[in-house]
Amino acid sequence: MNMKLITSFDEYQKQYEFSVDNPETFWADVAENFQWRKKWSRVLEWDFHKPEVHWFIGGKLNITENCLDRHLPARANQTAIIWEPNNPADASQHITYQQLFNHVCRVANMLKAQGIKKGDRVCIYMPMIPEVAYAMLACARIGAVHSVVFAGFSAGSLIDRINDAGCKLVLTTDGAYRGDKIIDLKSIIDEALEKCPTVERVLVAKRTHSKVKMKPGRDLWWEEEIRNVSDVCVAEEMDAEDLLFILYTSGSTGKPKGMVHTCGGYMVYTSYTFKTAFQYQDGQVYWCTADVGWITGHSYIVYGPLSAGAITLMFEGVPSWPDMGRFWHVAEKHRVNIFYTAPTAIRSLEKAPLSFVRQYDLHSIKVLGTVGEPINEEAWHWYHDNIGRGECPVVDTWWQTETGGFMISPIAHVTKLKPAHASFPLPGVQPAIMDENGNELLANGVEGRLAIRFPWPAMARTIYGDHQRFKDTYFSTFPGKYFTGDGCKRDEEGFYRITGRVDDIIIVSGHNMGTAEIESAIDEHSAVCESAVVAYPHDIKGQGVYAYVICYDKPHEEEKLRKEIRELVAKIIGPIAKPDKIQFVSGLPKTRSGKIMRRILRKVAEGDTSNLGDVTTLLDPAVVDEIKSGAL
Ligand code: WTA
Repeated sequence: MNMKLITSFDEYQKQYEFSVDNPETFWADVAENFQWRKKWSRVLEWDFHKPEVHWFIGGKLNITENCLDRHLPARANQTAIIWEPNNPADASQHITYQQLFNHVCRVANMLKAQGIKKGDRVCIYMPMIPEVAYAMLACARIGAVHSVVFAGFSAGSLIDRINDAGCKLVLTTDGAYRGDKIIDLKSIIDEALEKCPTVERVLVAKRTHSKVKMKPGRDLWWEEEIRNVSDVCVAEEMDAEDLLFILYTSGSTGKPKGMVHTCGGYMVYTSYTFKTAFQYQDGQVYWCTADVGWITGHSYIVYGPLSAGAITLMFEGVPSWPDMGRFWHVAEKHRVNIFYTAPTAIRSLEKAPLSFVRQYDLHSIKVLGTVGEPINEEAWHWYHDNIGRGECPVVDTWWQTETGGFMISPIAHVTKLKPAHASFPLPGVQPAIMDENGNELLANGVEGRLAIRFPWPAMARTIYGDHQRFKDTYFSTFPGKYFTGDGCKRDEEGFYRITGRVDDIIIVSGHNMGTAEIESAIDEHSAVCESAVVAYPHDIKGQGVYAYVICYDKPHEEEKLRKEIRELVAKIIGPIAKPDKIQFVSGLPKTRSGKIMRRILRKVAEGDTSNLGDVTTLLDPAVVDEIKSGAL
C-alpha cells in the first residue's frame, strides 16, 4: 500500500489542515489505496443531530479481501500472524498470509455449512489463539456480524450480550489458559446458553483438552466440522455501510451498549491510523498486547495491521507468568519492533525488579505505544527509559470503542513528545473542548470536556437496536457534536491531555465499567438493600472499585459478606469488576430529590475528607459523618 506517510511535523500540519478544509478529498485519497469491488459514489453524508453518518456511499468491498487476498501476490509467504502461546515451553507459530487466507476460508465455509448467512450475528468467546482471528475474519468474509465477548466475562455478561445481538451461533473453546490457570470457557457458555434462546449451534475448538459436556444437536467440535470444508471461500460483497461487527462497551446505565461498526470506513481508518501513528514499515514485527475481546484487539491486532499487510503478534498469556519478564522475553524472542500496551501493564511491570527487563535484548524495539487510560508521568518515563532506552517515541493513543480507531495521538518520530499527553489530533479528527455551558473553548491553555465536531470514517454508527440511546449518550450533551465522556486539557502549545472520564464510567486496569452495572450486581445479594460504586486512585490498576453498601440488617460478619459480594460480582459480570473495597454504611448521601451525591463518595474513597463541599442540600447530612469515619 502506498499511503503517503507523514515524515515531518510540517507535513503533519499541512496534511492536518488539508483534512479539515477538504475532508472528503482527504479520505477519498486514503480510500483509493484499498481494493473495492465498486467505487463509492459519494464520500460522506452526515448529520450529527439525527445522528446519521455514512462514509463511501455506494462503495462495495469485503474487508477480508483487503486483509488477505490483496496481499497474496506479494506476500503469500510473509508472516501475517506470529502466535506466542501461554506457556513459553510450547512452540510459537508463524502463520503466513497464504495460510491465514486458507484458514479463514475454511472457518468461513464451516460457518456457512451451519447455515450462517450475511447479516447473522455470531458470538465469539475465545482465548487469544490464532483461531479467534480466523473466526473474526471468517465472519467478515461471509458478511456475518461478529460480536466478540472478552473471555474474562462471566455467564451473566454473556447472556446480556448474546441476547441483545440475537446471536445464532457461538464459537468457543473447551477451555483457556491464563498463566498457571485453566478457565472452563465451555461450562461458562453452557451456563449462559440456558438463557439464550436464539443460539442454535456452538462450535467448540480444542485448546486445553479439558473434559467438557457437548450438548447433542447443539454443540459440534470445530476440528471435526472443519475437515469437511474447502479452503477457498469467495468473499461476500458488502456495502461500505453494512455491519462488520458489534462490540459491547459499558454504559452509565446498567445495560452494555452494542457499538455498531461498518465495513468501509472502519477498514480505511484503522489501516491508515495504524500506519500513520506507528509509522509502520514493511516487514516490521508489531505487537499489541491487548485481548481481541476489546476494541484495541479488533482494530490494532486484527483489522488495522492485516489490512496494512503487517506482521502482527498475538500473545495468549499474561505479563506476570511464568515471571514478570514475560513481555520482554517475547519481545526479544520475536524481535518486536513496535510494542503497544496499556498503562496498567506498565505500572505493574514497573514494580518488578529491573533485572526482569535487563536480561533481555530489547534493541529491536523502535516505537512504543500506550492505550486505555491516561498514563501517569512516572510510568511514561519508566517505559520510555527502560523499555525504549530513552530513544523510542511513546505513542500515547487516545481513542474509544466508539471511535473505532486512534483519534488523538503522537505520530512516531514526527511529533515532539510530552509525557502523558496524547498530543495532537490525527488528520481528519476535529476535537473541540467544551465548557460546562456548552461553549467551545477556542484558545489554548484551556480545560473542559472533549467533543468531536466532524465525523471520521471509523466512528460507530449506532448502538445495536437502540438508536435513541446512541443519540442521547453521545449527541445530546453538546448538540451537533459527538461527546466523548472524557475530560481534556489543551496546553499553551496546543498539546492535548486527556484527564479521564467525566461520567459514571470507571477504568479498572484499562477495562471500562459502568458503576451502575457493578451496583446492580452487588444489589443481587440477598443481604444488600442498596449500593453505590465509585472509583479511587489505585497504584497499578489506575482506578480501583470502591463500593458503599447498605444492608437490610447490620452485617455480623463483615469479611464473610465482603467475600460473598466480591464473588457474586465476579459471577455476574466477571472477575475484573470485583470491588477492591467494600464499606458498609447505613445510608448514602442523597439529595432531597433522591440523587446520590457521588462527589462526596468519591472524595471519601480518595481519602480526602477535608473539604467535601456543600452538603446542605442533602436529605440527611449526618450520613456523611458516618461515611467519613468508616472510610477504608
Ligand atoms: C480512556 C479503548 C487517556 C478514555 C481504546 C476513553 C484514554 C476510554 C486513552 C475508552 C489515552 C483510552 N489516554 N485516556 N491514551 N485511551 N482512554 O472504549 O477515558 O475501552 O474514553 O477504548 O479509555 O475506552 P475503550
